[in-house]
Amino acid sequence: MEDQKKVMLSGIQPSGELTLGSYLGAIRNWAERADQFDCYYFMADMHTITVRQNPAELRRRTVSQLAAYIACGLDPEKNTLFIQSHVPAHAQLGWVLNCYTMYGELTRMTQFKAKSAQHAENINAGLFDYPVLMAADILIYQPDYVPVGDDQKQHVELCRDIAERFNGIYGPVFKVPEPYIPKVGARIMSLSSPEDKMSKSDHDPNGCVYLLEDPAVMAKKFKRAVTDSETSVRFDPVNKPGISNLMQIYACATGRTYDEIEKEFDGMGYGAFKTAVGDATIEMCRPIREETERLLKDKAYLEQVYTAGAEKASYIANKTLRKVYKKVGFVPR
Ligand code: TRP
Repeated sequence: MEDQKKVMLSGIQPSGELTLGSYLGAIRNWAERADQFDCYYFMADMHTITVRQNPAELRRRTVSQLAAYIACGLDPEKNTLFIQSHVPAHAQLGWVLNCYTMYGELTRMTQFKAKSAQHAENINAGLFDYPVLMAADILIYQPDYVPVGDDQKQHVELCRDIAERFNGIYGPVFKVPEPYIPKVGARIMSLSSPEDKMSKSDHDPNGCVYLLEDPAVMAKKFKRAVTDSETSVRFDPVNKPGISNLMQIYACATGRTYDEIEKEFDGMGYGAFKTAVGDATIEMCRPIREETERLLKDKAYLEQVYTAGAEKASYIANKTLRKVYKKVGFVPR
């Protein structure tokens, strides 16, 4: 049975704390997928060093992210959870794929353009080359689907182009994966500028809520959330982006529909609504935070999870790598 399941793979960069947006938009839906798909999730630590990182912080965040994934319901028995740098085959395949990726293709990546504008003092080759490593991350597991957000779609497209190019020369070595856009999956916006996606790089620290954040801080952020000059709690993302975003969060946290929420807060002010959204979010996050904290105290367990994950991932990854090495003409050792 296991073999017949479609394979799915995704990575998250441990470049910041997990946000409420990535939880509601992605991670929350990952737990249920394990029954349907053979899932690989990894901490993309190698990607994070395209911008300068504090080494101790990177290590802490990588492990904390793993703990948080598990606390969010990802069962390490049912999913393969691992750390990217523990599987050297990613980097090895990355080098090969570099030679099948065009300079021009990489210069067209919108994220590269944005990030090199943001980090003008450190436009390193890794930043430029990052989509090739990402293609290697993906292709090495021969997945059917890659769940990604909008901002990563172009990278998945490039990954498909690289796979097709390689297959065109050497025959069907790589499965050409499809981007997977989940049917349900909220797109949570910034609390302070609700036209933009909630992001850890939001310049206003009040715009972004973190999954593991202190409840008092969380409550404050919701109280300060930008709304509009009306008074009615009504779902209208175009004219009322702030309120609609809060409704979305509240719907996720409570399971209520927009109709129910409109009725619940009919005639009440925005203040009461914002407090309710804050409270509901705090309650939704509480068990996750507590479980993450408990897991972080159990270093041996986490170590066992990522070691087992890396072993399983390496087994599959090395199979693909051997095939690729053979195709391009490397002498087998
Ligand atoms: N680039 C992705 C991001 O920044 C993270 C990532 C790295 C990824 N490798 C991947 C996502 C492979 C999906 C598949 O969000």
